[in-house]
Amino acid sequence: MPRTPACPPAPAAVLCGLGGWLPPRVVTNEELARRLDTTDAWIRTRTGIGSRHVIEPGQATSDLAVQAGRRALLSAGDGAVDAVIVATTTPDRSCPATAPVVAAGLGLTGAAAFDVGAVCTGFVYGLASAVGLIAAGVARRVLLIGADAYSTIVDPEDRANAIIFGDGAGAVVLRAGEADEPGAVGHFDLGSDGTREDLIMVAAGGSRQRPSPGEDGRRDRHFSMRGKEVYRHAVTRMAASARSMLGDAGWKIDDVDRFVPHQANLRIIHSVAEELQLPLDRCVSNVGTVGNTGAASIPLALADAASRDTLRPGARVLLTAFGGGLTWGSALLTWPELPVPTYRPHEEKNPA
Ligand code: UT7
Repeated sequence: MPRTPACPPAPAAVLCGLGGWLPPRVVTNEELARRLDTTDAWIRTRTGIGSRHVIEPGQATSDLAVQAGRRALLSAGDGAVDAVIVATTTPDRSCPATAPVVAAGLGLTGAAAFDVGAVCTGFVYGLASAVGLIAAGVARRVLLIGADAYSTIVDPEDRANAIIFGDGAGAVVLRAGEADEPGAVGHFDLGSDGTREDLIMVAAGGSRQRPSPGEDGRRDRHFSMRGKEVYRHAVTRMAASARSMLGDAGWKIDDVDRFVPHQANLRIIHSVAEELQLPLDRCVSNVGTVGNTGAASIPLALADAASRDTLRPGARVLLTAFGGGLTWGSALLTWPELPVPTYRPHEEKNPA
């Protein structure tokens, strides 16, 4: 019998570029406490957040995404990609998607470009989409950007949410490579529970709740969150997702050198680590200075850790996120050799 030649293995997606961008304007807890009924002590105790960055009037999510994307492409050493994915909850417009505008802003007109909507889990869902495009041979290089400008949807008078969220963007470049290379993005765990859509939402502005004539509907266009319930779901879902994926991958918790969770709240991060019995010194966190930046939070935390030298080549990294939907997801990779990323305006050596 003639033997059928074995199919070559599908290419793996290998992380080869990282960058980010935070808008220059910083809003401290003290500034919030001057206009809201809150205090620096309350915010720090409940969330671990001391300040966050926000965009200026007239700026939009794509402006953040272009800045972060440019830095990731520079870090990758090659500006060409076949696809641009933008994970966001605050697209520039409800139609069209933000990714084509971002691609054009980066001189990548012609590349495939689409948005991923999975709220704060968007970066992990986007990573799975990028891995899929590369494995299927649809793309050889993909730029994935997590970008959010929550200041455009959070009611500035809503003290429960205004203290949590910040604006920013983080980006990675993935190239086709081998599964055993450092940087190859490995196993995934993704999930959702749409029966709890009510916990995190912007009620109006979509097809379910249309604006009525004569009614500006502003309140319904603001972001709403049932914080206490979200907190409980975030801890249990993130821990379960991480555990399930580690089991599938054959990793033990001791194999994880760095845990890079969605930066929702320092207490949530510590509770998840405790559930997983992961030492706190392996948790990466920058929530204290950026707040919850939604889909940007994991790539910004990666950029922060890599720039502080707390994320070194060879480190085995676990990414876990949770967000509205509800959605959750985890991914694994071994950290590759990368140029030190820039993402803070005052650290910028080569302003774009
Ligand atoms: O990507 C996932 C995104 N989700 C999150 O990051 C949110 C997860 N949830 C949380 O982080 C926390 O639930 C919050 C930080 C939102 C709130 O912390 P909490 O310990 O769950 O407080 P709480 O909601 O139980 O509120 C306690 C009290 C309430 O007053 P009463 O009803 O006890 O009189 C709130 O009205 O604190 C009040 N409160 C505030 N007080 C001072 C709420 N926000 C503030 C504030 N300053 N900013």
